[in-house]
Amino acid sequence: MTPEKPRILFSKAKIQARVKELAEQISSDYEGRIPYLVVVLKGAVVFASDLMRYMSIPCELDFIGISSYGSGSRTTGIVRITKDLDDSVESKHVLVIEDIVDSGQTLNYLLNSFKQRRPASLKVVSFLDRPDRREVDVAIDYKGFDIPDTFVLGYGMDYHEHHRNVPYIFVMDHLPSNDDILLKPRKNQPSRKKK
Ligand code: IMP
Ligand code: MG
Repeated sequence: MTPEKPRILFSKAKIQARVKELAEQISSDYEGRIPYLVVVLKGAVVFASDLMRYMSIPCELDFIGISSYGSGSRTTGIVRITKDLDDSVESKHVLVIEDIVDSGQTLNYLLNSFKQRRPASLKVVSFLDRPDRREVDVAIDYKGFDIPDTFVLGYGMDYHEHHRNVPYIFVMDHLPSNDDILLKPRKNQPSRKKK
């Protein structure tokens, strides 16, 4: 039996080049203002840390934790804030940083919540966009890449908390079951035996 090879969708080099472009665009658009970066835990952490290091303007950083009911690869639309922002965003230039917009439910919920807090401006940067699965119309101001209707892993994105630290984006035709993950030792290069 041969281990399943991950199919790489975006290489580390391609990701870094695109993130740098986004950071340059954001730095130019926010010149003279200090964006208040709101990172959506946990998936957007890797993207955000690269993005802010490529930015040439000062910025402030905060995190929001959410849990959407349902697990695995689908969001139900019912979102709960598990860790709120540390500070008020009133009169601040809020830039929400997401890993991926899929149904749009999570982002829609967050944007509605932030709008009520009276920020000076409110924009969104998402590393990935999967428009085919959109259920709610949400505006993404800056985005890294569009992807087809397939579950992706790496660069912050997980399956049952695994693969977040892989520096590229990949797809696996057969997602491992939770039991497979729990029983197998963690590896840097994701691979697993076919059943
Ligand atoms: P939405 O609410 O359906 O737009 O889902 C958004 C959230 O679901 C993202 O922020 C991710 O945390 C998670 N998610 C959606 N698609 C994927 C994927 O392909 N891989 C990993 N996580 C995903
Ligand atoms: Mg997320």
